[in-house]
Amino acid sequence: MTTSLIETSGYIGSAEAPFIQEMTEITHHMWTLGWDELNGGNISYLLDEEEVGKYIDIHSSLRSLDLAFPVKELAGKYFIVTGSGKYFRNVIKDPEANLGVVRVSASGEQVEILWGLRNGARPTSELASHFMSHIERLKVDPKHRIVLHTHATNVIAMTFTHELDESKFTKTLWQMCTECLVVFPDGISILPWMVPGSNEIGRETAKKMKDYRVVIWPHHGIFGTGATMDETFGLIETVEKAAAVYNLIGGREIRQVITDSELADLAMAFGVEPKAGVLGLV
Ligand code: 13P
Ligand code: ZN
Repeated sequence: MTTSLIETSGYIGSAEAPFIQEMTEITHHMWTLGWDELNGGNISYLLDEEEVGKYIDIHSSLRSLDLAFPVKELAGKYFIVTGSGKYFRNVIKDPEANLGVVRVSASGEQVEILWGLRNGARPTSELASHFMSHIERLKVDPKHRIVLHTHATNVIAMTFTHELDESKFTKTLWQMCTECLVVFPDGISILPWMVPGSNEIGRETAKKMKDYRVVIWPHHGIFGTGATMDETFGLIETVEKAAAVYNLIGGREIRQVITDSELADLAMAFGVEPKAGVLGLV
């Protein structure tokens, strides 16, 4: 009689973990889009303890790291995260070196590394923005799971030529493709340019996340959040597509647009509430 791996060790093993496969697939896909040059971009994905425990030994941690920003609200929560300085291009070749499964300690002052981040690697340098954003998004959406940051090319380009007013930026994006208003009726938010990797940009990003699922960092990239990888990636993909259309039009004469009354009809037909103060803007 053969005994299964789960009966002998108590868990199946990381190679089978769906959450590691999801991270591997999406980082590869994003790299192929050219959004994640070098080590650009990072992802954190909130996981269920029960799900993690099926695949990984959660009873012994490999090491702990101090957090410069306590996140008591996330105590005991599990995340899979990308490593700092790690290339999305390389995740598919070696997930264990480039990703990590971590648990926030009971005090909220450390993360315990349970799997991955081999050879002393650390979670993304944008962990403050990720964790603080998770805290805010969970308050407004209990199904929230993912924070995804990427250097989406057209979004970055658009932050050089478009006014950085959130309502005006949102309206332009809505006007670029008919589906945009339906996908992000809540609009997009924008921070002023800030030094990345700091607690301060983490706090400012999280403040925006109280009201928005998308935060643009001018001349740097975009943060998107959602309940699933498909939803989160799809949201960013849609903003990036609209930005690409805007950049393609750049400088040419515009002969017709989707009018405000057409946008209002669209919102009505799809049952979405457009962010207040955007329609009617000139
Ligand atoms: P990390 O490699 O530390 O995740 O940083 C990449 C990045 O995009 C910084 O904003
Ligand atoms: Zn970045």
